[in-house]
Formats: sequence, structure tokens, C-alpha cells
Amino acid sequence: MRLIKFGFLVVALALVFAVAPNSAQRRSNNETKINALLAQMTLAEKLGQLQQLDGEGNGNFRPEHRELVRKGLLGSTLNVRGAKRTNELQRIAVEESRLKIPLLFGFDVIHGYRTIFPIPLAEASSWDPTLAEKSTSLAAQETYASGVRWTFAPMLDIARDPRWGRITEGAGEDPYLGAAFARARVLGFQGNDYSTPGKILACAKHWVAYGAAEGGRDYNTTDMSEQTLREIYFPPFKAAIDAGAGTVMSAFNDLNGVPTSANPFTLTKVLRGEWKFDGFVVSDYTSVKELINHGVAANDKEAAQAALNAGVDMEMVSRLFNEQGPGLLREGKVSLATIDEAVRRILRIKFRLGLFEHPYTREASETEILMTRTNRAAAREVAGRSMVLLKNDHDALPLRPGVGSIAVIGPLADDRRTPLGWWAGDGKPEDTITPLAGIKAKVSPQTKVGYAKGCETLGDSTAGFAEAVALARASDVAIIFVGENSETVGEAASKSSLDLSGRQMDLVKAVHATGKPTIVVLMNGRPLTIGWIVDNSPAILEAWMGGTEAGNAIADVLFGDVNPGGKLPVTFPRAVGQVPIYYNHMNTGRPPDANSRYTSKYLDVPWTPQFPFGFGLSYTQFKITNLQLSSQRIRPDGKLTVTVEVENVGRRAGDEVVQLYIRDVAASMTRPVKELKGFQRITLRPSEKRRIEFTLGPESLGFYNREMRFVVEPGEFKVMVGSSSEDVVESKFFVE
Ligand code: BGC
Repeated sequence: MRLIKFGFLVVALALVFAVAPNSAQRRSNNETKINALLAQMTLAEKLGQLQQLDGEGNGNFRPEHRELVRKGLLGSTLNVRGAKRTNELQRIAVEESRLKIPLLFGFDVIHGYRTIFPIPLAEASSWDPTLAEKSTSLAAQETYASGVRWTFAPMLDIARDPRWGRITEGAGEDPYLGAAFARARVLGFQGNDYSTPGKILACAKHWVAYGAAEGGRDYNTTDMSEQTLREIYFPPFKAAIDAGAGTVMSAFNDLNGVPTSANPFTLTKVLRGEWKFDGFVVSDYTSVKELINHGVAANDKEAAQAALNAGVDMEMVSRLFNEQGPGLLREGKVSLATIDEAVRRILRIKFRLGLFEHPYTREASETEILMTRTNRAAAREVAGRSMVLLKNDHDALPLRPGVGSIAVIGPLADDRRTPLGWWAGDGKPEDTITPLAGIKAKVSPQTKVGYAKGCETLGDSTAGFAEAVALARASDVAIIFVGENSETVGEAASKSSLDLSGRQMDLVKAVHATGKPTIVVLMNGRPLTIGWIVDNSPAILEAWMGGTEAGNAIADVLFGDVNPGGKLPVTFPRAVGQVPIYYNHMNTGRPPDANSRYTSKYLDVPWTPQFPFGFGLSYTQFKITNLQLSSQRIRPDGKLTVTVEVENVGRRAGDEVVQLYIRDVAASMTRPVKELKGFQRITLRPSEKRRIEFTLGPESLGFYNREMRFVVEPGEFKVMVGSSSEDVVESKFFVE
């Protein structure tokens, strides 16, 4: 009997595999269907697929969308969400429009849909890409349940300038770390097949170099060498494309004189030509129309022409492709082949997404899937692992659970909005656990927890200082929560000062003056200049904007249930005047020398950062020793193994992020003083020792030479392994 059943199973499986198309067949079937559709489409319907329009602020579509969809003049929306609403508009597309092409609903799910995870900069501080894969995968499930199938994420802009508010949305300053997080986030959102229920389409943005805006001023011009583009700004995008990202967003910025939403070099030569990307490119919000302001188009028609011919497929919000397409075609300024190709790319992704088979969303799934206990637990875990301990003199932290009384102070101690950060999806402040709530839930019943706000993050009032000071005096320990509010980070939130805003610094000083041990918890979306706090406060925890579960996660770390193991993904300057300051800089002809005036430094501030890239402490200590290389000489195409021993020499279990850097000492072009080429976050028990192994190959040792060829050049290389970019053990080898 068993054998017969088994036989049936084998036959059934064989049939399924024989009948179910494999992915190559599916792709070629799709292309056939696309050809059939293209053959039937009118020009207006084609241009309709290239149009994306915004909904109303509340997640609803606009009344005029119904008619546009019915006529086949709208292919996609942004910000329209909720299963009921998306189904309603989708029904018009699929049942009432002539060709029944489904709509694609997009939304900015940057760090969570309803359950909000830490801001991406924080998540990158975990140096654990598997966490990012987990959070994006849970965010994808919530997004899918809400009828949205496309996120405008991950944001992959390298940012070396904390004045730029959007540094909060990315993975920081380093291309290698950025690429690792790019890969993880694309896989989390999309999986290996984004037609799977619960998976959504990713969008690698903003292509490209948007993070290099001059002066850190949002939307500003960028101008850089092709080497810098290829070595610093491209790698996270390349990793996203290799991981299968289905779409890319062209950016707002001008790049070397050609705005990125009309740039054939980046959109066509690199993306499609070199990287073989076959998905579609959506413009950023009205960036096609803005080509006129940039001064590369005299009018709407020239703007549409420039963007279409450069390789933008879908236009977000402005409507120039639609309005100008027919005229451009008549005049031969844009070819029908170009328009057809844009339509083809968009339809290809709609097919791959399974929209034709499953255009609707099951309305009951929203209540089942959004903000579950599992998702909250994951948000708490990710937030805890994202925090960075910046200072901890005399083991001021962790706090003893039995501490008698705690003063919880500061404008962010009980703020429900700030932890959600910028682009908080559909996150709701009423769901947020604030630090005050997290601490109250953690302490034993004997502990007294008092709260005083002290001041706001902005403004000049010190009216609350007296209450805060009195509370600190009456308590055993003060924990003060300062930073930025969520409106002063993100898009269009550039700043010329990185100091704590409003009267927050004075509040820290006033509480410190009581003589009570004062722990500073930072909640912010960018590096801040906090020299006074570094010099005076015994302990500093960088908690970032930690999402829905921020308060619980902060309490976990403050009381030692979670031992902090995060590391900075971006350099903290001492003064805003040092910006841009980043670890992988060139050496210059006159590297800084304290004893020589005519070297590269400042008169009024040290040249070194406040906290270097890769820095972060733990409640335990680690020793990294015994750096060994598998050989001293390799060929340019050879590989090398690097090993070190890591030992937990403290008294608690904890995490170390072991980081590997290289330096190409002399080459045909100047090379950075350090480049991250490997990292591993590991957990060790007290006294536990582990060997960690890294491999270096041509992809880690090469660079783009003057002819823009990727080469590994002979000569000496340094290898540095350590616990931050500045705390390393060193060795060397030669490429022959
Ligand atoms: C931002 C994009 C975002 C888009 C849609 C733009 O202002 O630059 O990152 O995806 O709006 O919300």
C-alpha cells in the first residue's frame, strides 16, 4: 500500500514538473504575451502604462483616477493603499478597461509598513545584514496585505555628509557595507521570486550619487569623477541588481552636468548595457518636469524627450510623457521603439509580479498580518541589535534592575512620534513604546521611575529645567533622552549645524551639574556633534530612531538584557566644519602631522573624528590577535585567506563585529588609506575564543584605473583587522 502511494506521489510530482513552466519558459511566455498586448495597444494606452500618479494624502486614490484607469491611461499609483481601496481601483483596471492590464500600487516602505523597524542607518549599525533581510521580509508581508505590491526601497545612497537629512534612509558611508545591506534588503522584500504571496517588488534608489549633494543641501548638484562613482556610489546598486531588484528610481540630482533623470550614461550604458538590468526605471517625484529647472530642457516637450531617450520608463507624478509623447513621436524626436521598450519593461515586471494572475488582495488579511506580536518582537530584536554604545566609563551601564530610583528626562523620553523616524509607512504613534514606557515595564516594582520632559527638541524655552533638575537630585541615576525629532531628519531636512537643537545641550548640562550619574541616550537620524557630552557624561548610548518597539529595546540594553554590539556605519565628526569626513579617504601628499604646520589639518579642531567608522563598545571586552595570511605573495587573479583570533576577555557574553580593511600602498592611481573588505558579527561567551576567516580575491583588491578598467596592480597591500576602522592589527602581502 505504502509503495503504491509513493508511486503515485512520484508520478504526480513528475507531472507537475513536466507541466509547470520553469522560470526561463515563464519568461519567454511573458514576452509572447507582452508582444500580443503591444500589438493591440493604442499610443494613448502605451503612454498610460508609463504614467504614475499620486493618491490623496490619506491613502485613498483621487476621484479622477477611476476614469483614467477605465480608459487605460494610468499604469501605476503611489501612496494609494489599503486592501479595500486598492481592490476597488484594481477592479476598474482588470474588469472595465479595454486591455485589462492591472495597476501597480507603489508606496515608500522604507523601514516597515505598520510595524516600524529602526531607521535604515540604525539597522546598518547592526552590521548584520540578516537582520535587514528579516525586517524587510516582515515589512513585505504587511505591505502585501495592504494591497501594495511595490516599495520605493531600498534607498542605497552612500552618504558622507550628515548635513544631508536623507543620510537617515541609507546604510551610511561605506560601499562594501552598503552593498551587503542592499543585497539583504532586496532579498527580504522580493525573495527569489516576487510573485510569491507576501513578497513585493523592490526599487533601488536614488540612481545615482544623490547622497553627494554639495553642501549636504538636499536636491543639490553632484559632481565627481567616474572612479568615485564606480567605486563608492555604484556598488550598493550593483549588489541590488545582482540580487534581482526589479525596478530602479532615477534621482533628482544633476550629475556631472547631466541630471540623473535624463542621464544616458547611468540609465542606459551602465544599468542596461553593463549590468544587464531588464526591469524598469521610474523617475523620482516630478524629476522629469524638473529637467526644465536644471536647464537641460527648454520646455515640457524637451524634458519628456530627454528623460525618455535617456532611459526613464515610468514618470512619477508629472505628466509630460503623456502630454508630449504624441508630438515627440510625430516629430521623430522619440521613436516608437523607445516607447514600446518602456512599455515592455513595465509589463514585464507586472507579469513577473504575478499581477495578471493575482491582481486583488484578500481584504481580511490586513487584520491578520499587520502589527502581529511576532512582528513587534522582531522590531524589538532589530532595534536592540542596532544600538551603538559610544561611551561607558566605569561600567556606568548596564543599570542594576534593583536600582532605587531613576529620573527619566528629556524631550524624547516619552515622545511617540520620534522613534518612527522619517518615512514611517503606515506606522502609528499610538503603537510606539516610548523609552519611559519601556523602562517602567522593565524595572522591579520597588524602583521609582520619575519623568520630566525638561524642554522640547526645538525652541528656546527652559521652563521645564527646574523640574528636571529637581527630579534628578531626588533620584539615584538620571537617563536623559535627547536628539532630533522626526521632522528634522529625512527629505528636505538638511542642516548647517549638527549640534543638539533647541536647549537640549543646556538641559544635559543642567542635569549633569546635579552630580548624579547621568546617562545620555541619543535618538537621532544622523551623526551629531556632541563633544561636550563625550567629554563629560559617563555613558552614551546611540539608540537612533528605533521604531515601534524602540522603548522596550532601549530598556533591554540599558538594563543589560541585551549587550550592545552595534558599530557606527558612518563617521561622527567633532565639528560640522570637518564635513565631509569619512574613513576611506585618500592620504594626500601631506597627511596630517601634529608636529608640522604645513600638513592637511585644521587650526581650530583636530583632524580626527569624534567617533570613527566601525566604532562601538560592548558591556564586555574583546581581544583580536594572531593575524595570519595564507601566503605573502599572490598573483593578481589569486586569492588569500586572512585569519584572526577573537576572544571575549570580559565577564559577559557579547557581540564583536570583526572588520577587515585593506590598503593598496602604491598604485597607478591614489587609493584610500583603508577600505572595508569583510566583516563578521559574532557572539562569544566569556573566555570563549574563535578563529575568524576572511577571503580576499581580485574583487577586493582591484580598482578602476585611468582607462576605467577594473585591475589588480602588483605591489604591496596592507591588511588590517580589528574592532573599528581605527583599532586594528596589521600585516602585509604582495601582489606579483
Ligand atoms: C522621494 C523618493 C520617494 C518619492 C515618492 C520623493 O520625494 O525622493 O524617495 O520614493 O518621493 O514618495
